[in-house]
Amino acid sequence: MTTYNIAILKGDGIGVEVSNQSLKMLNAIQKRFGIDIQTQEYLVGGAALDAYNTALPESTLKGCKAADAVLFGAIGGPKWDKQPTNTANNKDSAHLLYDTPEKGLLALRKNLQVYANIRPVFVFESLLEASTIKPEVIKNVDLVVVRELISGIYFGKPRGIEVRNGERVGFNTMIYSESEIARIVHYAFKLAQQRRKKLCVVDKANVLEVSQLWRQVVAEIVKQYNDIAVSYQYVDNASMQLIRNPLDFDVIVTNNLFGDILSDEASQLTGSIGLLPSASIGDSYALYEPIHGSAPDIAGQNLANPMASILSVAMMFENSFQQKEIAQAIRQSIEKVLHSGVRSKDLASFGSTQVLGCEEMGNAIAKVFLE
Ligand code: IPM
Ligand code: MG
Repeated sequence: MTTYNIAILKGDGIGVEVSNQSLKMLNAIQKRFGIDIQTQEYLVGGAALDAYNTALPESTLKGCKAADAVLFGAIGGPKWDKQPTNTANNKDSAHLLYDTPEKGLLALRKNLQVYANIRPVFVFESLLEASTIKPEVIKNVDLVVVRELISGIYFGKPRGIEVRNGERVGFNTMIYSESEIARIVHYAFKLAQQRRKKLCVVDKANVLEVSQLWRQVVAEIVKQYNDIAVSYQYVDNASMQLIRNPLDFDVIVTNNLFGDILSDEASQLTGSIGLLPSASIGDSYALYEPIHGSAPDIAGQNLANPMASILSVAMMFENSFQQKEIAQAIRQSIEKVLHSGVRSKDLASFGSTQVLGCEEMGNAIAKVFLE
């Protein structure tokens, strides 16, 4: 019997609640498909700071590396917003200091070398009315943001806050090597080949040298992908086009910061950020996580939408385990539940017959999956 070992990092806030619903789905998968799934939980983020004084304990990283895949919830919350920076280690890897929950996540991504963050954006037929954007604009939207995840301004040095000429200055560095650009661009081209064969490179090449280098590298690579139609957009224009005519997009490839911003924007095409899963892929490891955060304002109240996490499980089965059938079955279950008129709180005002809490929604999806 096939065994899949999955590291579960629930994290903080609603990360815990939505991950619990994904655990139900993993149970249901075992039942329906007769495969063996072993899960092992590890602390990360604020929960790990409380327990181990570091947002990414060694044991967590080790567990992730030993697993076949990692399911991540969300991290952060007001409680940990003002952790003092550990200046003792500041010299070498300031950004890898594990003294805020966010640094734990960034260090995890970096350590696992998961450079390609895949954020699919698709609109469920039943939720056409759920978006603040007109149904005719979003109908059939099916695009993917490919976000570079372990470099760029998130990690570039120098970075910091210091006093210059008697006042504080803050600074970060947006930096990419050509090999970092090439590997994410190749990934995006290959993804486009499996889809509608359109790739849009999003940058700020009219202002930033780092973006000009992206374009040079793309120009060198493009010859290897004659079947792909490549276009270029500046990020300000792309953020407008994304809501003006989202059907124009197939695969978008962009840097870490622009991808973070554009994917939150794109989530609103679907009706809620609570619907968007993601996969973070590297050469050796893969991490799956909803794109939403820990939502401290609704945490612990059974109000969260577990769909983004459960859809991340679907991505895991498709990408890491080559179990397309299982992935499809998960997506269909969510579609069916939505079609029946049942909604989570974030989608509540739109054509719902019944609003379910996070737990109950998790139960409903698992139940339909097993029918
Ligand atoms: C995301 C999040 C993270 C990011 C935060 C929590 C560090 O916004 O995954 O999109 O900026 O990458
Ligand atoms: Mg984000």
